[in-house]
Formats: sequence, C-alpha cells, structure tokens
Amino acid sequence: MSRRLQAPRGTFDVLPAQSAARAAVESRARELLEAAGYERIETPAFEATELFARGVGESTDIVQKEMYSFDDGGGRSLTLRPEGTAPVCRAYAEHGMHKLPQPVKLWYLSSFFRHERAQAGRYRQFWQVGAEALGSDDPALDAESIVLLALLLDALGARDLRLRLSSLGAAATRNQYRAELQAHLRAHSDALADEVRARIELNPLRAFDSDHSGTRQVMATAPRLVDRLDAADAEHFAEVCSLLDEAAVSYELDSTLVRGLDYYTRTVFEFSSDSLGAQSGVGGGGRYDGLVERLGGPATAGVGWAAGVERILLAAGEEHPAAPPVELYVAIDEDGRRGDAFATVTAARRAGLTAQMELAGRSLKGQLKHADRLGARFVAILGARDTVLRDMQSTEQETVPADAVVARALRGLRGPW
Ligand code: HAM
Repeated sequence: MSRRLQAPRGTFDVLPAQSAARAAVESRARELLEAAGYERIETPAFEATELFARGVGESTDIVQKEMYSFDDGGGRSLTLRPEGTAPVCRAYAEHGMHKLPQPVKLWYLSSFFRHERAQAGRYRQFWQVGAEALGSDDPALDAESIVLLALLLDALGARDLRLRLSSLGAAATRNQYRAELQAHLRAHSDALADEVRARIELNPLRAFDSDHSGTRQVMATAPRLVDRLDAADAEHFAEVCSLLDEAAVSYELDSTLVRGLDYYTRTVFEFSSDSLGAQSGVGGGGRYDGLVERLGGPATAGVGWAAGVERILLAAGEEHPAAPPVELYVAIDEDGRRGDAFATVTAARRAGLTAQMELAGRSLKGQLKHADRLGARFVAILGARDTVLRDMQSTEQETVPADAVVARALRGLRGPW
C-alpha cells in the first residue's frame, strides 16, 4: 500500500463540523464592519518580498525568520503574505485611493502564512479577519477601530478577554526613546538574557517581551515610552482613552505592550484571552501613519487591527451552530420512481426548502432512519404508483399527488399540518 499523505505541519483541514462556526465569524464580521462603513478587500496570497521587508520591518521576527519566500523563476523573490496591513497599504497607494473621500475603510478575511513553531493556537497557515481605516489621524478613528473589534469578539462569544492599550508616539520620539532604552540595557547588560543582549542594537523594545527573570528586573526600572510622548501624541492618546471610556469599553494601560511589527506609531492595542494557553493573543493592531509613504505612496495616516479566526473560536469554546435541519427528505420505495424523486427534490430546493433525497441505495427502513438522523420534518415516500407524505413530528401521513408534495410540505411548515 502507498504511504498515506498528511496535511503539512502547522496546517489543518477545515472539516464540515468546523465550517459552520467559521462561517458565523465571517457573517458577524461582515454585518458589523459593513454597517460601520468598511468595504471588503482581497489582496493576492503572495506579494513581492520587499513589501514585507519594507512594510513589516527588517528587524522583526516575521521578516527575519517566519516568511515563506520563494523565487518566482525569473529571479524575483515573492513571499506568501504573513499579514494583511502592508498589502492593504500597497493596494491603497496602487489604486490611488487617497483621491477617494477619506477615511477609506477596508476589511478582509483571508489566510496568512508564517513559518512559526506549530503548537495549539499557532499555525503556519491561519486565518485573520482584519479592518484597516486609511486617510485620517482622528483619535476617534482609533477608538472606533478598537470598539469594533471589542464588539465583534463579544458577539462571537470570546471569553475572558483583556484589552491592553498603549501609545508608541511618533518616530522621532521613538528614536530618542530607543537611544535612552539602549543606554539603560547596556548599563545592565550583565543581567540580561543572551538573546536580549544580542538585540540591544537591532530591537531593544523586544526586551519588554522577555520571560527571563534577570531581564525582567532590568525592565522594571527601564524608562517607559508613554512618559516620553510629545504633547501632540500625548493629547492624541488621551483622546483615544477618553473615547473608549465614553463607549464603556474597558482597557488596561500597558506601557510594555510591544507588537511584533515595526510600522506602528501612536496607538497600539491587543486583546488577549485568559482561556487560551501560551498563544493568548486574539487580536491586535494600532496606528501606522507612515506606512503608505514608506511603501512609495503619499503621506497617509492609518489605523486598524487583525484577529485570528482560530484563536477567536478557541476563545469562544466549542459551541458549533447546528447544521440547518432538513425540511423534506425524499425517500424511494423498493421499485419507486427515481426520476420523480429527483424532480421532487429539485422543486423543493427551487421553493427554498432544505431538501435531500436518497442517494446511497438504503432500504426504505434505512431511509426513514437516515431521515430521522438528519432531523427531517417531512419525508416523501415515492412508491411504484403512490406518493406518501409523512410528518415526522406528528407521525401523521397522507397520500398526495407527486406534483403536490412541495406545496403540501410548505403548508405544513407554515402552519398546523
Ligand atoms: P498580529 O498581531 O501579528 O498583527 O496578528 C493578529 C492576530 O492574528 C493575532 O492576534 C493572532 O490572533 C493571529 N495570529 C497571528 N499569528 C498566528 C499564527 N501563527 N497562528 C494563528 N493565529 C495567528 C497583524 O498581523 C497586524 N497586521 C494587525 C494590524 C492590522 N495592525 C494594524 N492593522
């Protein structure tokens, strides 16, 4: 026998039992985001590698070790998208969306690819629902974006959520702060974890992420970026906080919040769920005012988020919405009329009923058992001459003309049989 093939490590099949829950995420996201003026966008599954190198940042884990990059055969390097913000900003610039009324609000639900160590809640192909609003730096847009994610997670039943919030300020403030932080890390370098010490020059902010106890002690006395914000950034952040208060969305200020992407300016936030294990991040985002420009477009403000579909479902527990019950099951008696059965099930579907017919050669007894298993309300039994319609709820049945089955079932579904 040939070796049985399996899905690649870190990937999974979405089986019918999970697809209803995933469809619910998509339809809730669509309802909520489109009602707030977001329109759907799809970008390609792969992009020029340079888009992510420039957009997400050379020093990030994503670009340094998690991208699926390949040569397209013509010497160009392409990469399976690891995230959606840089592609959306590329599309905004490429299609001249800055000429549209601003802000331009876009949402997506797509799969993304990161070569991470696979574990529960962390996959190499995963799905994100995301929302990006470009062309305005109004703090109300930051607050709106955060509130929409809070509403979505709530509507989908994600449990034990915490929202952490911070501000990274403008690039100039960050550069100054970065130098100050590097000086602090260098002064205490003996106490730091090796990998933190190795990254002092490249990415000193990541030191806040470390679990290493010596590093944590050093970080407890480290300068905080939120205390260094300039007046305009501090005011912007205060306004975001006050609007969240108005909307009664609770949050924790967390000046150690570090996001794994380099494009953020000002507001950053993350929802995590204590009911998830190590991979507790359900969704996160922030403002990225320089990103479109960094990708060759006009200077454009932007803010948005993405949430992992698998993480949302994990945080919501295993409540699968049931498949819709079958309203009419068309059974065929021993020497019954297959052609009429096919015509009947088609007519039922045309009329909007959920309908199935026998397709596996079961005995009549087996068919009735199967119809019961499907939760069928009515079963039409097509015999050699007669057609019997049975109400599975009341177990009453009557003989009806074959072409009246659908009308009779419809009447029964609407009112008393
Ligand atoms: P991110 O934090 O890298 O942000 O990813 C957002 C969410 O995607 C995470 O909170 C998590 O739920 C999910 N996620 C990430 N990696 C994996 C994985 N390997 N397996 C399963 N789920 C995963 C971004 O991607 C930014 N583009 C968000 C953003 C949008 N910022 C501004 N606009």
